[in-house]
Amino acid sequence: MKDWSREELISQAVQAREHAYAPYSGYRVGAALLGKSGRVYTGCNVENAVYPLVICAERVAVVKAVSEREQEFVALAVVTENGGAPCGSCRQTLREFGEDIVVLIADATGAYRETTVAELLPGSFSAADLN
Ligand code: THU
Repeated sequence: MKDWSREELISQAVQAREHAYAPYSGYRVGAALLGKSGRVYTGCNVENAVYPLVICAERVAVVKAVSEREQEFVALAVVTENGGAPCGSCRQTLREFGEDIVVLIADATGAYRETTVAELLPGSFSAADLN
């Protein structure tokens, strides 16, 4: 995966955001996760009347990818109305699969800032700590 387009990945996250199920918060989130195979796995937030059962868009994308046998990732784009950052749980979930994953945090206009999992979750706990 040498060449990939940040704008294209963000556009896929914008489309995934259309599917958000957020009747309680009204805060719609879309994600697009680029695997090293070149495949893109999208996700949206899925809320529940039992509020704590909510699943974030980023984790939906990771779970879809891993369940389809992809475990190595190049980048994740996440889109919200106002460019909100990934939550702590999503940061840790991404970190499981690498610190070098590029993270594009975009708002509904497509404006974005670029960071990495390592920057979002410094000093993280990982599988290495279990050895
Ligand atoms: N949300 C995400 O989908 N990803 C995040 O990283 C932060 C929060 C969702 C969960 C909930 O449906 C709504 O945004 C408000 O917290």
